[in-house]
Amino acid sequence: MSPHPVSGTPAAGLDTTATNRLMDYFDHHDQVWLFGYGSLLYKAGFPWLECRPAAIRGWTRRFWQGSHDHRGTPEAPGRVATLVPEEGALCDGMAYLITPAVFDQLDIREKNGYLRFVTELYFDDGARAEGLVYIATEENEAWLGPASDHEIARRIADSAGPSGPNRDYLLHLAETLRALGHVDEHVFALERALLDIERSS
Ligand code: SIN
Repeated sequence: MSPHPVSGTPAAGLDTTATNRLMDYFDHHDQVWLFGYGSLLYKAGFPWLECRPAAIRGWTRRFWQGSHDHRGTPEAPGRVATLVPEEGALCDGMAYLITPAVFDQLDIREKNGYLRFVTELYFDDGARAEGLVYIATEENEAWLGPASDHEIARRIADSAGPSGPNRDYLLHLAETLRALGHVDEHVFALERALLDIERSS
């Protein structure tokens, strides 16, 4: 199944909380699988019933989303991960089995442009499940889009927000992927570029 938005493709304003609350795809489910690939991978910070490494297909992780509320400010946005569609791509992350009540806090945490999408999750043992993933698409107002590794790393080196320095987001994500035995060339290239910048400054 290819990933798709929960109910059409709502225009993503800067604060997506209200749009996400309208989405009712998993209403009447007692439990829902959530796929995390960025901060939700390295720091859950919410209650979960079960947690298992998983992957989703057709999406690739990119530091193309601006962060106004966690790792930057509206005046000086940081850069954080989102997913962009790519034929044949596999994105490794973490699946959390949660109760729908947890979306109240997740929608607020992911409000800076991320929308809930339905996707198929692939577990290491070959099992599959339908679940949700938060994705910030290029329609959202905080979108920054592609840039060179050096430019992205420079922005990350220079940014900080209420959740802390932007560099910590990138380094925690890279460390977590490595600890899980996954390779993400985009993340690892940005990590190298960031450490180079820090060494030379
Ligand atoms: C995610 O981690 O799954 C979404 C993006 C983020 O919160 O960093």
